[in-house]
Amino acid sequence: MEADRDRWDERWRAACAEPNRAVPTAPDIVDAHPELIEQLPTTGSALDLACGIGAQSLWMAKRGLTVRSLDISPVAVNLTARSAAEHGLAVNAAVWDTDEGLPNDLRDLAMILCQRYRASDLYLDFLQRLQPGGVLILTVLSAVGNNGVAGPFHARPGELGDTYRSAAAAGMIDVLVDEERNGQATIVVRYTRS
Ligand SMILES: C[S@@+](CC[C@H](N)C(=O)[O-])C[C@H]1O[C@@H](n2cnc3c(N)ncnc32)[C@H](O)[C@@H]1O
Repeated sequence: MEADRDRWDERWRAACAEPNRAVPTAPDIVDAHPELIEQLPTTGSALDLACGIGAQSLWMAKRGLTVRSLDISPVAVNLTARSAAEHGLAVNAAVWDTDEGLPNDLRDLAMILCQRYRASDLYLDFLQRLQPGGVLILTVLSAVGNNGVAGPFHARPGELGDTYRSAAAAGMIDVLVDEERNGQATIVVRYTRS
């Protein structure tokens, strides 16, 4: 039907244009827990891993952080860099494949964000990259609340909490948020000491 065709045309046009409209956007978990904002740093260096088009990179930079944004997609990286330049924000965007781990020079970070990308091989390495007081925010697709459907991109139930439990028990981190629902899992931790 013509009306259906037009409606889908419009939606796809909007979806294709969307990458050109990256605007500073808080991580999902900050929307869900506005009180978290007080716990997040506003100075120092930050990493936005698997940054996509960089909306959260812009948000962190706007708050005062110097941001490194990494993603495997050159298109995403270029869009991130362009948006940052347009906003006059300090974001260094580069192509990076997490199969290579993390760049060696990423140390003493005030904040790490990895949103909607399951880099399970790097979960513990993230802690080593934070400075004392630094905050890690991880959000991944989860099998919990996903109608039981779980694929390779979905964390198993309890995956994030289990990963960081011994670090929390050892007093290395404070867990600020640990929740799984609606097909998404998030953990927010503050690194207290090595
Ligand atoms: C669902 S998007 C999330 C984008 C952004 N973090 C957000 O929350 O909107 C997942 C991102 O992971 C990136 N990605 C996929 N495989 C990757 C890899 N091996 N190394 C780095 N980034 C990767 C994709 O290019 C994509 O931008």
